[in-house]
Amino acid sequence: MSRDSSPKYSFQSTKTVVVPAAGMGTRFLPATKTVPKELLPVVDTPGIELIAEEAASVGAERLAVIVAPSKQEIMRHFEEFPEIVEMLSARGKDEQVAKVQRAQKLIHPVAVEQEKPLGLGHAVGLAEDVLDDDEDFFAVMLPDDIVLPATVMEDMARVRQAVGGSVLCAFEVSREETCNYGVFDVEDTNIDGVKKVVGMVEKPELEEAPSNLVATGRYLLDRKIFDALRRIEPGKGGELQLTDAIELLIKEGEPVHVVVHKGKRHDLGNPGGFIPANVDIGLRHPQYGRALYASLKRIISDYESELK
Ligand code: UTP
Repeated sequence: MSRDSSPKYSFQSTKTVVVPAAGMGTRFLPATKTVPKELLPVVDTPGIELIAEEAASVGAERLAVIVAPSKQEIMRHFEEFPEIVEMLSARGKDEQVAKVQRAQKLIHPVAVEQEKPLGLGHAVGLAEDVLDDDEDFFAVMLPDDIVLPATVMEDMARVRQAVGGSVLCAFEVSREETCNYGVFDVEDTNIDGVKKVVGMVEKPELEEAPSNLVATGRYLLDRKIFDALRRIEPGKGGELQLTDAIELLIKEGEPVHVVVHKGKRHDLGNPGGFIPANVDIGLRHPQYGRALYASLKRIISDYESELK
């Protein structure tokens, strides 16, 4: 993306990041009977803290976490835990004290309750009251998705500054994989790595996929999305779909663009994506990386000899 595009719209940094975390997590049963998937650790850090860190890194002040009544533990992660801090401090365990205190120091968390899982669109719509009157846009980050490097949200903010409207994050998959995702119908723009979205199809049949650019869990949404969310009907699975509201904005001529992400992406929402994420991030961990690498080589070699 070219970084010198002269701003047409006045620059506002992202103040609020909305984190929808009220889904049922059925793909992670039986773990999610009692543990919200957002608290499952990637190496040693829960997904919700990774998201808080990413939100803080783009300068956001507020994390509006959409939680289900049965998932209040997610907000507890941002509390102070004075007894643990006191006990660890008395033992001189400063490093562990820092780990306990980190989440709470990152950003101001606000809980918004979604009584029933009526869909991602419904969840995002509940955040309207949290925004200040002067917030023309906000970010949505799905805690199921790890998108690296985290600077992609900054690129998206720069695109909004240049062209206004809403800006989403897309990544390329093979044609065969498009049926698992929301797929963008796009046109080229004169900004490198940025496409204009002219339509979106949720989980299309192979021959109906308009491109191989699919949605990730990072959105920079114009405040007009709230009005669009009020006007859509429940779609797939009887849920209010965020993509339907975005589609409505596009139909009404509102600018929607995607930044084509060239980095990595992990899906923490199911074991098949969660395990590779742990391996990838674990391999780069200063404490566990080397030993994990050796273990993995051994495990793979044992596995391959079993296959023979
Ligand atoms: P997903 O559909 O991927 O999550 O929603 P889920 O519903 O928890 O997963 P499964 O299919 O049952 O395994 C994407 C994101 O939207 C949130 C989820 O928590 C997840 O972060 N979400 C979804 C809500 O907050 N509310 C909803 O009603 C639906």
